[in-house]
Amino acid sequence: MGDVAAIETESLVKRFGHIEALRGVDLRVEQGEFFGLLGPNGAGKTTLIRILATLLRPTTGKALVCGHDVVRECTEVRHLIGVVPQAMTCDLDLTARENLDIYGRFYGLPKKERTEQIDYLLGMIGLEERAESLVATYSGGMRRRLEVARALIHRPALLILDEPTLGLDPQSRYVVWKLLEKLKERYSLTILLTTHYMEEAEALCSRVAIIDHGNIIAVDTVEGLKKSVPERDRVELTIDSPPDADPVQAVKTLKEVKTAELKEGVLTLTVENSQRELPLIFEALRKKDVKIKEAKSTHLTLEDVFIHYTGRPVRDEARKVSFFIGAGVPRKWGR
Ligand SMILES: Nc1ncnc2c1ncn2[C@@H]1O[C@H](COP(=O)(O)OP(=O)(O)OP(=O)(O)O)[C@@H](O)[C@H]1O
Ligand SMILES: [Mg+2]
Repeated sequence: MGDVAAIETESLVKRFGHIEALRGVDLRVEQGEFFGLLGPNGAGKTTLIRILATLLRPTTGKALVCGHDVVRECTEVRHLIGVVPQAMTCDLDLTARENLDIYGRFYGLPKKERTEQIDYLLGMIGLEERAESLVATYSGGMRRRLEVARALIHRPALLILDEPTLGLDPQSRYVVWKLLEKLKERYSLTILLTTHYMEEAEALCSRVAIIDHGNIIAVDTVEGLKKSVPERDRVELTIDSPPDADPVQAVKTLKEVKTAELKEGVLTLTVENSQRELPLIFEALRKKDVKIKEAKSTHLTLEDVFIHYTGRPVRDEARKVSFFIGAGVPRKWGR
């Protein structure tokens, strides 16, 4: 396919009545990339995915998957993609093998090929021994792994995962991450993943787009995104301050200190280089008789990059509600 992008969108707009879920998204994901779409609730992640998955039509603009238009060539696109939706959708009343078999039939795989592919995928997700158990008896992490396998049954070129570890405990999340890393290493598969977990994007993705209010506001490698913001490291000091001292003012006079905030006895600073600048900060506070009870310094994270671009942290409220809404709106509402 040469230099045809795995995903290319141009001025993509999606409106639901007066709600503008996507406001002119231009995105290019190359083949073989592990690409992360990072954004808070309601940013437009699921909407973008549903358009790429041919489940929603764009209002205006266009989207191509491996050069095929998602509206005009939806059959080709459906064969090229495997989708793991935001909600768990495996059939609980069937076994893992039966779930995979049904999908293999949907895609018209002949029996022999289907059986081979199912055995192979069950091995890859580490569920061979539970293959004949009802999915109702599975943990959340096991169900997620099964859904990844299900999305791969027809050997797609592009795997799309909408919040693959939402609601999973840390251990299951880690197992899903390992599975995705294995997929990336072994196959020339393009992976597009949405997440609101910063650490997930950092751990897995070669490039990340930050999406907010239907706009893509930055796209780069994790390193590149961090370099694109002026802040560097964060220092948190638990302090004991005399009533007449103003610790925020004391540190703000240092040119190395970018921001300073005092909340419940904790002075939080962003600085260029915490190792180099900590002694200066200590000295400035000591001069004002401010006692430092505890000091903690952390390096710049994607969360900080997000705050820089959007002015606020990735919200976590309403996750439960959105888990269901984003998961699969019934067709009659979705269009
Ligand atoms: N079928 C629909 N009808 C009306 N509004 C919708 C519909 N689907 C999405 N929206 C709205 O479009 C916006 C984007 O929603 P979307 O589900 O794409 O966000 P998201 O980034 O996936 O959020 P989350 O992290 O909560 O899953 C939201 O304001 C949402 O309420
Ligand atoms: Mg969503």
